[in-house]
Formats: sequence, C-alpha cells, structure tokens
Amino acid sequence: MKIGILTSGGDAPGMNAAIRAVVRKALYHNCKVYGIKRGFAGILNGEIVPLSSRSVGDILQRGGTILKSARCTEFKTPEGQAKAKEQLEKMGLNGLVIIGGDGSFRGAQILNRMGFLTVGIPGTIDNDIGCTDYSIGFDTAVNTVLDAINKIRDTASSHSRVYVVEVMGKNSGFIAIAAGLAGGAEAVLVPEVPYDLDAVCKQIVKSIKKGKAHSIILVAEGLMGDPVNMEHSSGFIVGKYIQTHTGADTRVTVLGHIQRGGNPTFFDRKLATLMGAKAVDLLLAGETEKMVGFVNNRIEVFSIDEALSTKAKINLEELELSNIMASV
Ligand code: F6P
Repeated sequence: MKIGILTSGGDAPGMNAAIRAVVRKALYHNCKVYGIKRGFAGILNGEIVPLSSRSVGDILQRGGTILKSARCTEFKTPEGQAKAKEQLEKMGLNGLVIIGGDGSFRGAQILNRMGFLTVGIPGTIDNDIGCTDYSIGFDTAVNTVLDAINKIRDTASSHSRVYVVEVMGKNSGFIAIAAGLAGGAEAVLVPEVPYDLDAVCKQIVKSIKKGKAHSIILVAEGLMGDPVNMEHSSGFIVGKYIQTHTGADTRVTVLGHIQRGGNPTFFDRKLATLMGAKAVDLLLAGETEKMVGFVNNRIEVFSIDEALSTKAKINLEELELSNIMASV
C-alpha cells in the first residue's frame, strides 16, 4: 500500500509524533509512505516526498510539523477540488492520513467522496472536534498557558494587580476552562456561555475586600467574535471594562501563538502515537471516511461525518467548579 500523510490548519504540538507513528506503523506493515507538504496546498502543487524511518527520527519531541501546514482556500473551490483529484491520481496513493482540525476534516470528507481512502486524526490545540475527548496539542497548549499564568502571578502579586489573560480558542473555551480550573482563575469567560462583565467586576471587588493580592481573569479569544481580526481583542475589551468599573490596576496579556509551539507533553505524544498507529490499521483494513478519537481513555473510531456533525461540548461542571474555587 502507498500511504500519504499531511498536516493541515493550525499546527499543534504532537503532530510530529503522529507523523512518526503513521510512518513507522506503515513501514512495519511493509507499506510505502509519502509526506505531502503544506496540507491541501501541497496536494494541489504536487509537493510530495518519500518518508523513511530515518526521516521521522528525532521529531517525537518537537513542536510544529515537519510536513508544514497551511490554510488552503483554493481547495474549497470546485476547480481546486478537481485539481486535487487529478494530482492525487498522479501520486498513485491508496490511502491518506489527514491530521488537523474541523476544516481539515471537511477536506478529508471531500476526498473520501471523490473515492480516496482517507482517515482523519484530530490535531488542534482548540480541542473543538466532536467524537473525541482530546485532540493532539490541547494538553501541551494548556500546560503552556499554566506556565504563563504562574509567571504572571509573580508580577500580579507583587503589584496587586488584576491580569486579564487572553488564550486561544477560535470558537471555543476548552483551553480557557482547563487553564482556569488548573491555574486558579478568578473568572473564566468563554464563547459558549453568555458573559456578565458586571458580575466579574463584583467578584474582583469582593476578592480585593477579602485581601486577595491579585486576580487572574481568563478570556477565550473568541469571546466577542472573530479572533483573527487584528482590530479586535476580547482580552483588551474585558480589561478596559474591569479597569473602568472597578478602578483596579489592570493589565492585559494576550498569549497568542506561543500556545501553539513547544515540546509536546507526555499525554500529547502518547495520544499522537496511539492515533497515528490506529489510522494505519484503518487504512490497511480498507476503512474509509473514518476518524480516530480518544474517548474515556481509549482509542475509538467514528465516521468523519459524525465527528463533523457532533459539537464538541465544553464541560460546564468544570467551569462551575472553577468559579466555586474562586468564590469563597
Ligand atoms: O485553530 C487553532 C488556532 O490556534 C485558534 O485557536 C486560533 O484562533 C487560530 O488557530 C489562529 O490561526 P492563525 O495561526 O492562522 O492565525
């Protein structure tokens, strides 16, 4: 079998570990493996390289993706898709593994429908993919946020300030909730839950009266709409509101793309290795239109359709618990 692999959309720590797992599991089964560079753009441009066991050596621990990634608008057009079909036929691949987020899964679905055997692996720090408890990169990103919060706390406490920390999450609050619960935030604001900035201000004033030296408020970047719009930052809007309505000395930190880099954690390396190996098993079994998920601590298989039509839900109990921890 000739298996192709690509990474697409926002990169995520652990993608390299998944590439390594796909390559080595496929080689173990005597398949040939090819890397397609720059995601779907690489299909269109015919950017394909053979991968050996050595070409994926020394990447298990590295963030980013050796195959590079891109957001490809051309592939979304009928002309782009026709070109992709032509190129894939030329490449002569019998199976494709696509690692990425929901946009990448939509691409995988299109290729499946064109008749290419395709399996998806969820790789996005946002963790906003249905049918899996975790996507590759989320755990590392949350740990990066926690590291930043620890450092911000040092200065926040020295100056008795309120810090608004804006974290990634295009349309979702997974990173904010996980980091809020584990990092001891005073409040966590996410797009999935209507926000009440006056309640946040009241909580801050109450904390100051109780003698708390500082507060950390976590805001998901997508709280107030499109995070990719440079004019707009949910964190700064919240920060300004807090400063004006509480009088507290307030600072804003936007963590940004720092959350996408770094060495993957144990969890992300393990998840990526299990998922990569399973994706190869699925291709060898001739399974198509499948995604590999991780549910209740086990690898599970779903259809890509199901993954795309199932909304990944934030855990409201965890959000409530984080609020309880801050309220007393
Ligand atoms: O999809 C992951 C993500 O990091 C989001 O959290 C963020 O909104 C977006 O990608 C940023 O995309 P880009 O790197 O293209 O600016």
